[in-house]
Amino acid sequence: MSEDQIIKTRRRKMKGIILAGGTATRLFPMTATTSKQLLPVYDRQMIFYPLNTLIKAGIKNILVIVAPEHSGQFLNLLGSLLKKHDIHITFEVQSAPRGLAEALTLGENHIGDDNVALILGDNIFEDDFAKQIKEFRSGGHIFAKKVSDPQRFGVVKFNKENRAMEIVEKPQQWISDYAVTGLYLFDNECVELAKKIKPSERGEVEITDVNKAYLKKKQLEVTIFEGEWLDAGTPDSLLQASLIVKEKGISQNFHPILDQAITEFNEELKSLSKKKLK
Ligand code: DAU
Repeated sequence: MSEDQIIKTRRRKMKGIILAGGTATRLFPMTATTSKQLLPVYDRQMIFYPLNTLIKAGIKNILVIVAPEHSGQFLNLLGSLLKKHDIHITFEVQSAPRGLAEALTLGENHIGDDNVALILGDNIFEDDFAKQIKEFRSGGHIFAKKVSDPQRFGVVKFNKENRAMEIVEKPQQWISDYAVTGLYLFDNECVELAKKIKPSERGEVEITDVNKAYLKKKQLEVTIFEGEWLDAGTPDSLLQASLIVKEKGISQNFHPILDQAITEFNEELKSLSKKKLK
């Protein structure tokens, strides 16, 4: 059997990518000194929430894509956090925010021959989607939620049989109330699809164009969900996110491995600060 055939016959693993770059101008001055995804949401940094979503789905290899000016801070927080728990976190720098689809090309080596779960570093989900992530095999799979302000998002339109018909990034005219949220499952072909995408009018390589390519091939599955979805991109939505996380106990319901790793990290910080006082 050729190497290619062996790869095709073995079950592809699921790698994870968290996209945590960008400039977050809507959160200035808070993001003048740190990254949006390192701002607190209730009792921990925002990035822990998407990290938890990937860990709950059993993903062991996670690439975190960061802006150059914040790479050291991400490394300090996550660099060795999960090492002894057999979860490997690596980092890639995105030199400028050229769009979400760049996560797939920057992540090409990380994805290798496997599939990928890409999650946005500022998206917080109450549901864990572990079942869909574990059962994913091929094509694309996205997660949609009914919202009152669809013009702010990528939007998916369904037909009467609830099949996805069209996806539009920030539609100026209403097409549907269903936002495409920031969790995307793609098979290995996504890297080649992403390479072909040209920047949009706003100058970004759009993840919506990757979704559209799968939709065109009739290989895009859409799960509609009801649980909370928080996209903490403005001061108001950041505050709202903290309140909902607290009310729903989302940070109290982390995967035990991540919970333990955060507790250990806290203990280490405490003992370091005691040593400094001596
Ligand atoms: O939140 C879901 C929405 O995310 C989707 O409905 C849209 O289809 C999708 O395009 C995206 O919309 P936004 O325009 O709101 O994305 P934003 O620019 O806020 O970026 C999302 C996250 O990705 C944020 O944490 C910053 C990070 N990012 C963004 C860009 C453009 C990067 O790390 N690199 C980038 O190049």
